[in-house]
Amino acid sequence: MVKIGIIGAGHMGRTHARNLKQDQRVEIIGVADIMERPAQSLAAEVGGKAFPSADVLLAEWPDAVYVCTPNTLHTEAVLKALARGVHVFSEKPMATTLQEARDIVTAAQKSRALYQVGHNRRFAPVYKFARRLIDEGFHPYSANIKMNRGELINPQWVCNRAVTGGFLYESTIHLLDMARWLMGEVVEVQCKAQQNICAEQDDFAMILTFASGHFAAFSSSAHTSWAFPFERIELYGGHASIVTEEMERVTYSPGLAQEIVVRDYFQLDVADKWGYREEDRLFVDAVVNGQVPPVTATDGYKAVELVEACYQSAALRGAPVTLPL
Ligand SMILES: NC(=O)c1ccc[n+]([C@@H]2O[C@H](COP(=O)([O-])OP(=O)(O)OC[C@H]3O[C@@H](n4cnc5c(N)ncnc54)[C@H](O)[C@@H]3O)[C@@H](O)[C@H]2O)c1
Repeated sequence: MVKIGIIGAGHMGRTHARNLKQDQRVEIIGVADIMERPAQSLAAEVGGKAFPSADVLLAEWPDAVYVCTPNTLHTEAVLKALARGVHVFSEKPMATTLQEARDIVTAAQKSRALYQVGHNRRFAPVYKFARRLIDEGFHPYSANIKMNRGELINPQWVCNRAVTGGFLYESTIHLLDMARWLMGEVVEVQCKAQQNICAEQDDFAMILTFASGHFAAFSSSAHTSWAFPFERIELYGGHASIVTEEMERVTYSPGLAQEIVVRDYFQLDVADKWGYREEDRLFVDAVVNGQVPPVTATDGYKAVELVEACYQSAALRGAPVTLPL
C-alpha cells in the first residue's frame, strides 16, 4: 500500500483525497491543516488522522504527500518532503518565484522521491483530444487563448498577492502550461497588463512566440463573472481548426468541405472532465512502478518561468522578454 498524507484540507485537498480513497493501492494516513475542523472532517471522510501541521504529518513517514495549501506555501512543504525522500504531488503553481522553482527542481533531482505538479488540464479530455490531433498531424500555425476568472473573492486568499504570487499564478498558469504542451517551448513573451477592478494587475494581453516561430494571442482577466466562456483555446491549422470550450466541449474542423467533429464531455464527472482522477491515478502509478511522473519538475518550472516572463514584460510596458530567463 502507498501511504499518502494530504496537506491542506480545502477544495483541492478534498478533491484529490476523494480520488485517492477510491484507489485500492492507497492508504490515506491523514490530513494536515492549520485549521482543525477541515482536517478532522476530511480525515473522517477519507481515513487517517487529523494533523495540526505538515511537519507533524511528515514525522509519521508517509510514502507520499499531496501539497494542497495556498500557492506561496507550496515550496516549504515540498522541499521538506523531498529532503526526507517522501514523494510529492504538489498543486499548481510549483512555486511563485523563479528561485523557489529552481530550488524544487534541484531538490527533485537529488531526492530518491519523485515530484509531480498538478497541471490537471493535461488530463482533461478536451485537451487530450486536441493534443492527439496534433500528434496525428494537425499543425497549429497560430492560436487564440483565453483564461479568465470570474472573481478574486473565493477562496478568500485569492485576492492576496502575498498568498497567490499574483493573478497569473492563479488561473492563467494553467493555460500557459497548455500553450507550451500543445505548441512547444515559448521563446519570447510580450505582455501588457492593467490594474482595473482588483487590488493587483488583473487584465493581461499577451503574445507568446514559440520555438517554431508560430505565435499565440492570449488574454486573461480576473473579473469577468463565471459566465461561459471563461476558458478557451482556438488552434488554427491549414484550413482547419480545433476549438475548446472550457473543459466541456471541443470542436474539430479538419478541412474545407469536411464534416466537423464535436466531442461533448458535459455529462462526465468533474473529476474526469477536469483530469483530476487521471492525474491522481498516474501519480500513484509512477510511485508504484518507480516511473517518471507525467508532469515533471521541469514542466512546473517552465510554467513558473512563463508567468515571470509575462510580469517582466508587463513591467516593461509590453517589451519582448526572451526565454529561458
Ligand atoms: N488544479 C486546479 O484545477 C486547482 C483548482 C483550485 C485550486 N488549485 C490550487 O490548489 C491549492 C489549494 O487551493 P484550494 O482552492 O484548495 O484552497 P482552499 O483555501 O480551499 O484550501 C487550502 C487549505 O490549506 C490550508 N492551509 C493554509 N496554510 C496551511 C499550512 N501552512 N499548512 C497546512 N494547511 C494549510 C487552509 O486552512 C485550507 O484548508 C492552491 O495552490 C490553488 O492554486 C488548483
